Amino acid sequence: MLLLKGKVVFCIQLMVKKYLDFVQGIAVNSLGHANSYLVKAINNQSKKIWHVSNAFIIPEGERLAKRLTQKTFADSVIFQNSGTEATEAAIKVARRYFYSMGNKKKNRILCIKNSFHGRTIAAINASGSKKMTEGFGPKVGGFDHFEFGNHRQLKKKITNKTAAVMVETIMGEGGIKVIPNWCLRELRRICNKKKVLLILDEVQCGIGRTGKFFAYENAKVKPDIVPIAKGIGGGFPIGAVLMTKKVASVMTAGTHGSTFGGNPLAMSVGNAVLDQIFKKGFLSNVNKLSKYFHAELNKLKKKFPKIIKEVRGVGFLIGLQLFKNQTIFIQKLMDNNLLTIRAADNVVRILPPLNVKKIEIDLALKIIKKVCSTYK
Ligand SMILES: Cc1ncc(COP(=O)(O)O)c(C=O)c1O
Repeated sequence: MLLLKGKVVFCIQLMVKKYLDFVQGIAVNSLGHANSYLVKAINNQSKKIWHVSNAFIIPEGERLAKRLTQKTFADSVIFQNSGTEATEAAIKVARRYFYSMGNKKKNRILCIKNSFHGRTIAAINASGSKKMTEGFGPKVGGFDHFEFGNHRQLKKKITNKTAAVMVETIMGEGGIKVIPNWCLRELRRICNKKKVLLILDEVQCGIGRTGKFFAYENAKVKPDIVPIAKGIGGGFPIGAVLMTKKVASVMTAGTHGSTFGGNPLAMSVGNAVLDQIFKKGFLSNVNKLSKYFHAELNKLKKKFPKIIKEVRGVGFLIGLQLFKNQTIFIQKLMDNNLLTIRAADNVVRILPPLNVKKIEIDLALKIIKKVCSTYK
């Protein structure tokens, strides 16, 4: 009864109050809510086939895989349902690669301490975060960690048992920490030298969010394996792991699988998202408008030097780092009809849809300015 009452209240609030959503399901709804093009795509597919086993090749999935490989470093794709599944699959591919080469002890994955790769048992252990693992039983082995930005530690922690280094190209949950381009290039060089695979987790920062299709493109590096999810589904659950031919060759039939991964509904929506993102001028517009947004936020930082410490991020993956805890600030933004979300390091995460309009950015800026003006 209580629950029902709560639900009713929630609905009424939603009906009377309009929010400017700059969270978008945490970088999921890349084209906003109820995008008419995506609605049409899913409706059309829903009248045809919803589900078949991925033992069969379906045209929608084949098309999506082809488009993802033609546009990127990858030669092969395995479809999943979420970001966590995609990062787990990435770990499996890396380990299986060295196993198949006869190097069975080369199976450790080196990650950044307090990173975020998902919520399954393996993924929380990959994070190296006490907060994520506490209370969930014995540690899963096979993961090592280095501190963000500690290059000496990174080099030291790569041993002959390391199969892969797995990092988020931009740490999302960790506070919108961007790995500088030169660091990514150096990381690629070290991985090559030590014969270790490079996994770049683009679950949050990929699919156009930074103004490039993938965030790593800004550094002009080529990874070996890239897990993706969130934005590719525009709100429909899709995950995928992208790989080079070299590593994909070990994933023979039966080594990995998924009942729902790559289902026709998901694949149709994924193709529809790409139709929009690959449109001429789409990403250059993300670049143009996000530069404007960053510049205006930096002006607010100057105007409120005791509140805003730093404006972080690339493109529409933005972090407003505050001097103080951000919870009340986020609540005040919400009271003023702007939705944002927290990240580590006192960061307010700002993630508009990629097709956001300048007028909506200006409205968000006005609300942020108003909250800064009254914030103590
Ligand atoms: C970088 C990164 N990897 C993996 C995940 C896990 O994705 P999901 O929540 O879809 O399982 C997330 C989710 O926030 C993420 O940001």
